[in-house]
Amino acid sequence: MERTFTFIKPDVVSRNLVGAVIARYEAEGLRVAALKRLHLSKVKAQGFYAVHRSRPFFDSLTAFMTEGPVVAMVLEGDSAMDKVRRINGATNPSEAAPGTIRKDFGTNIERNAVHGSDSLENAAKEIAHVFSELEIF
Ligand code: RTP
Ligand code: MG
Repeated sequence: MERTFTFIKPDVVSRNLVGAVIARYEAEGLRVAALKRLHLSKVKAQGFYAVHRSRPFFDSLTAFMTEGPVVAMVLEGDSAMDKVRRINGATNPSEAAPGTIRKDFGTNIERNAVHGSDSLENAAKEIAHVFSELEIF
């Protein structure tokens, strides 16, 4: 059993599509082990995306992630990390495969609906960034 971290980004939350996105994960056998709706501060968003600090899109990305509430989740299941990234689709919605969340709900390479951890090490860090152990079941 593996755990991974997911953000449903502000573009999806503001369009009232949270349930539609969670349903995609549940339909693939993933279980919601923790869930929280929160509005990230700029500092918190910069910390979360610290690996991208020197990228040209860093300021724009952290502005987007703080423009409104997000929904954070810990998803659990077999190969959860790879499974979530497959369900999410390619970073750029225009290159994402049919049936993926980003293809169906993403707008552009930045406003791409969801985040999924890219390694188990990062998943553990990202989970700890938002959740305490007592909030994960
Ligand atoms: P994520 O971390 O959100 O699951 O997405 P990812 O691994 O597919 O993409 P990553 O390279 O980690 O980039 C993180 C987020 O930054 C935004 N981005 N903007 N303007 C751009 O060229 C650009 N590239 C990436 C996206 O919101 C991406 O998900
Ligand atoms: Mg990433």
